[in-house]
Amino acid sequence: MNKVKIALLGFGNVGSGVWKILSSNEEEITERAGYKVEVAKILVRDLNKNRGAEVPKNLFTTNPDEIFEDDDIKIIVEVMGGMEPAKDYMERAIKSKKHVVTANKLAIATIGDDLLNMADEEGVALRYEASVAGGIPIIHGIEECLTANKIKEIVGIINGTTNYILTKMYLENMSFNDALKEAQEKGYAEADPTSDVEGYDPLYKLRILTSLAFGERVDVNSIYREGISNIEAIDVEYAKEFGYVIKLLAIVKDVDDVLELRVHPTMIPARHPLANVNDSFNAVLIKGNAVGDLMFYGRGAGDLPTGSAVVGDVISILRNNMDLNKVVDKPNRVSKKKVNNIENAETQYYIRTTVKDVPGVLAEITTILGKNNVSVLSVIQKGKGQEYVTLVFVTHKTFEGNMMKSLEEIKELSSVQKIDNVIRVENGYKG
Ligand code: NAP
Ligand code: HSE
Repeated sequence: MNKVKIALLGFGNVGSGVWKILSSNEEEITERAGYKVEVAKILVRDLNKNRGAEVPKNLFTTNPDEIFEDDDIKIIVEVMGGMEPAKDYMERAIKSKKHVVTANKLAIATIGDDLLNMADEEGVALRYEASVAGGIPIIHGIEECLTANKIKEIVGIINGTTNYILTKMYLENMSFNDALKEAQEKGYAEADPTSDVEGYDPLYKLRILTSLAFGERVDVNSIYREGISNIEAIDVEYAKEFGYVIKLLAIVKDVDDVLELRVHPTMIPARHPLANVNDSFNAVLIKGNAVGDLMFYGRGAGDLPTGSAVVGDVISILRNNMDLNKVVDKPNRVSKKKVNNIENAETQYYIRTTVKDVPGVLAEITTILGKNNVSVLSVIQKGKGQEYVTLVFVTHKTFEGNMMKSLEEIKELSSVQKIDNVIRVENGYKG
């Protein structure tokens, strides 16, 4: 049996998952890859960390040269994360004619096209299945299996950490901070969880999916993004009362040849197909003009699910016998679709306000909404006989621009103490 040497850059959650899969499924992997895969070196920061008894200590190094200068190492698995030095190492690997497999969504979303071009020039593969939705084969699914379609829409829960937090808040009334702590302990969160909580991680993933599905290289800075840090227990309670669930959605739609991209917390009806996607599970709904509606579902984070995608990429390169004509991925064509400004997005809204409990306040607010073409679907008032009460509105569909204008005016009313929260509502009530 042929042997192939690979190296891991990083041995955290994902790297250790890759190791476990290579060990526990060794027989199947060898048979399917046509090679016995040997991990020859593992780059880490700290040689003194406990890595488990089963991993030989002599594999670990802090010196990248030991990897890049070893011609026998054919595949580099980058699972360290962040931009630098991961970018530098991937470029070094490609220039040394080594194939690269990565789980790094930040790098793929921002410099992936350059890396793919470089890999193309050097005749090596750059694979990144694990960069979006962990164990779900969404990259390969779009790139290969759905390539006959014109994709019209992708709506997904593509961040495991925030989905874990929102699930715990909704089903167990757990606090935001306790749920985040658990997600970190389970290995779902990024090294800096701000990326998860503030929606950057799903934004990078949405950029990658958009590039694959629409051939569109959108600037990540132009994608509208909101995280979940403003979601309070009281919003979760109101969501329940209205029959909604709150999820952090990543959305890209082709609206009359203009792309609309956004990442934000969203209330969706409890009967929505994404409403019961819980914990670290991810799900991606895709609308193709030939296939119709599709839903991908599975673990979006964690050592083994992510390791599954990484090792799958390694096997795919080996299956093709590292034949350069078969493994090279060409970057996507560049299309010229316009990208919509968020002001033109059309959706429903949940608005939670604190107002003075005086006659006429409801009329003042609804007059402003009406003047701006926003029509109200439901209103709930909580509290009575106090100076301030909570007034919650759910609107019909309207343009974001109309809503923002309304909120500016509502804020100025002397009867309104504050607008506590505004959450978009998708696919809500019919009507
Ligand atoms: P992690 O647990 O923080 O592990 C990072 C590993 O990289 C550690 O072993 C660390 O070494 C090493 N490392 C970091 N900087 C280094 C440097 N400058 N030089 C040498 N080694 C360095 O991260 P992770 O959760 O495994 O995530 C890794 C990548 O996979 C990220 O791109 C992440 O976005 C992506 N990803 C993660 C998941 C998930 O569920 N966690 C899912 C999909 C994709 P030490 O151990 O010595 O500190
Ligand atoms: N931090 C990411 C998440 C890991 O929670 O989804 C998977 O990409």
